[in-house]
Amino acid sequence: MVIFAKNVSLLLAMKFKRVVVLTGAGISAESGIKTFRDSNGLWENHAIEDVATPEGFARNPQLVYDFYNARRKQLLSPDVTPNKAHIALANVASRFAERFVLITQNVDNLHERAGNTDVLHMHGELQRARCVRSGKTITTTGDIDGHHHCTCCHPSQALRPDIVWFGETPQYMSQIEAALCQCDIFVSIGTSGNVYPAAGFVELAKNHGAHTVELNLEPSAGKNNFAEHHYGLASVIVPQFFNASMK
Ligand code: APR
Repeated sequence: MVIFAKNVSLLLAMKFKRVVVLTGAGISAESGIKTFRDSNGLWENHAIEDVATPEGFARNPQLVYDFYNARRKQLLSPDVTPNKAHIALANVASRFAERFVLITQNVDNLHERAGNTDVLHMHGELQRARCVRSGKTITTTGDIDGHHHCTCCHPSQALRPDIVWFGETPQYMSQIEAALCQCDIFVSIGTSGNVYPAAGFVELAKNHGAHTVELNLEPSAGKNNFAEHHYGLASVIVPQFFNASMK
């Protein structure tokens, strides 16, 4: 059956059983956190290879600690708050409960601050630090550097930012893949579709029968895999889409 975008939302309102949402940097852009690819491969003026790879960390750990300490501090700024798109997703989550899964590539805590719990942070979290040996994580809102050590190992080991860098395996992958295979709608919000495995989630969901929706400022690299598209600011189109489709 061909479903046209104009009428799709009402049709889907009757069909949704399991909803999976994937978010990327675009959902947090209006909350004051810069996206990645809008700045010519630089992340807050740093080359990605320097601050988002294991090799960069081995080369200059202090630079990497400083970089994530600054990003973590930014989350505490009164200027950085959840926007209407984050809040809309928290409302959907409260209606669908365990039938809703939120996956984010973002390392900020704006989904949680909007009211979402159980967010699958596949690329890690700024407010967590990880033991380099055991992989165990602790919550931290303050700075970490090479002088901070874990309490899980003897002798204690260094802590690193709990951020999944390029070349590393994203977190929660088996949970994510199970959710993608079981959902009947997959909604991708604010992601350029350039980084795998997240960029491939739409195909997995689609191949298992899900309706697929892209909500972004502009067409993403994977736009042809989506059955429905809405382009504009996340703070506008995300509440609009869910209000219309979940009445
Ligand atoms: N509303 C909606 N979409 C927006 C907005 C906005 N206000 N502002 C920007 N966008 C869109 C951009 O058009 C772009 O397509 O959000 C997307 C952001 O893309 P990226 O910067 O590539 O971010 P993302 O897709 O999340 O990056 C994936 O790459 O660098 C790694 O690990 C990092 O998690 C990150 C991953």
